Amino acid sequence: MDLPSPQSYPFPLEGDIRSAQRDPSWPKIVTNLAALYGDHAEFDGFLKRLAACMDAARSVRPQRLKTLDAARAADPDWFLGASAIGYSAYVERFGGNLQGVVKNIPYLQRLGVRYLHLLPFWKARDGDNDGGFAVADFRQVRPDLGTTADLAALTEALSDAGIALCADFVLNHTSDDHPIAQAALAGDARARGFYHLISNPVEVAEWEAGLGQVFPETAPGNFTWRAELSAYVWTTFYPFQWDLNWSNPEVFLEMASAMLDLANLGVEAFRLDSAAYLWKEKGGPSKALPQCHLILQALRGVCEAVAPCVKLKSEVIGPVAETAPFLGDKYHPECHLAYHAGLMTAGWAALAEGDADLIRRVLAEAPPPPPHAGWITYVRCHDDIGWQSLAPQMAHLSAEAREARLRKIAAFYDSGATYARGVAFQASGSGVHGLNGMAASLTGFETGDPSALARLRLLYGLAFAAGGLPLIYMGDELGQLNDPSYRDDPDRQHEGRWLHRPAFDAARADGQDAESAAVLAMFEALRRARMALPPLTHESAPLVVEMEVPGLLAFSRGADALCLFNFSSEAIPIGRIAFPLGTDVFTSRPSAAIDHLAPFGMVWLTRGPAA
Ligand code: GLC
Repeated sequence: MDLPSPQSYPFPLEGDIRSAQRDPSWPKIVTNLAALYGDHAEFDGFLKRLAACMDAARSVRPQRLKTLDAARAADPDWFLGASAIGYSAYVERFGGNLQGVVKNIPYLQRLGVRYLHLLPFWKARDGDNDGGFAVADFRQVRPDLGTTADLAALTEALSDAGIALCADFVLNHTSDDHPIAQAALAGDARARGFYHLISNPVEVAEWEAGLGQVFPETAPGNFTWRAELSAYVWTTFYPFQWDLNWSNPEVFLEMASAMLDLANLGVEAFRLDSAAYLWKEKGGPSKALPQCHLILQALRGVCEAVAPCVKLKSEVIGPVAETAPFLGDKYHPECHLAYHAGLMTAGWAALAEGDADLIRRVLAEAPPPPPHAGWITYVRCHDDIGWQSLAPQMAHLSAEAREARLRKIAAFYDSGATYARGVAFQASGSGVHGLNGMAASLTGFETGDPSALARLRLLYGLAFAAGGLPLIYMGDELGQLNDPSYRDDPDRQHEGRWLHRPAFDAARADGQDAESAAVLAMFEALRRARMALPPLTHESAPLVVEMEVPGLLAFSRGADALCLFNFSSEAIPIGRIAFPLGTDVFTSRPSAAIDHLAPFGMVWLTRGPAA
């Protein structure tokens, strides 16, 4: 297989912007970059080098990917269609290595997957590397998982099967053993400029005063002293993950170039990890500053010019008011996809409270996505469930009442007093933080609760009905439980998120035992039912219908669909709100014949026939 040759840093100092100027996205790129870097003496040279880098990438883009670009251009909303389903997995846990993932393609096809998010499979730091998020080389596959050729072969095989590969692209940091970090440690001034290095502890304290904490328990603070640098290096996450200094245009150039190299291997979507942290400003939390948006929009422009099939997904996890802006707007398109973290968290809260109040509030506050963009709707992922994503929906409560309510919801899952078997994450600090656990363990499979499957169906039903791209987290489709084995591994035992990162249970995937067969069948029914719902548009964005029954969530999807969910453990009579002419797409029963919703039950009423 002929692979496009990667570009390597540093790029030529001269370039030619004539061909770039012909790209429709060039004016947007230049405008954004001028706002970010226009003050730099070398700004013109920087633009030329960027143009040269884009030209070089364009000239080696393989024909099969140009064909894919054209096919996707003809159907730009393919990932928002009723038949598109996403799946998220670790390469080593799902297929062993990249070649093993190829072997699992028929399984993905059976699930209806059209978008496969593989967690970071790039060369990572030795030892603890935050599950691969401490990247030592953005262009190289982790040797035990395969080679660049294996990656290109995987993207091609997936593409033949109608599946796009989404790869993590860790925008915010490199590992401390990345060659640029190593050069910085050796004193290279240019490399030092890639990071935020501060030698004065007073200044560090000034910055720190405004910042939040991502891992208050396992990695408190945002700076790490490194004697070799004679400085504190900014480390939002773990001390070995060094934040990149995006106010340096060299960082933009290096990252844009790496992204294009990966796009030329067939990566069709990028999960832009930690996208809210890219720009820093003293005095505040340095989160989601306007410059982050300028950077992301410029990166989108670069992709549109060279690899137009590429989709960007922002990894911003927080309240809906924080995640939605990363989709941009009609005039400033940004990412194509954003995690609907608020909705996901509200689903779990609703189950705990037996009341859909927080879901209703999140949906009411979620703006309809701009054209050609949408939400990732999901139930679980490789990270914890962060309860603070719901704080704004409790703004009507006092701070104490808010904290007490969140604490009660969290305790429902992590106290061991209910059917749920979750474990609190980073919870030793003052506020309520997060929760770890597989969906099956949180819904009652682990404790043998008879309603477990109904609860899992309800939560995934919400993800499948709310519009956007529903994402299945590996193992949920089989009802896989928590995996406590990480507690015996010295590199992982401090990190509770490994609780919900089990190895794929191939035996269950065969559907041999009754339980996994039932869960797989449930997902198949959801897949089919979803095809009866209208595709997500402004007109069909979920619109909450107030029902005055706390446990009952009802939203319409355009004029043709009404979805009803019972988040309580009691049956809810619904005869009086029947949808005229509607039919439940799961059972084909006419709405007039449905007089109640079973505990944790749901019906999706549409005018059209079930698929
Ligand atoms: C993202 C990832 C998370 C990781 C962090 C730092 O939030 O999802 O797993 O720890 O970024 O890279």
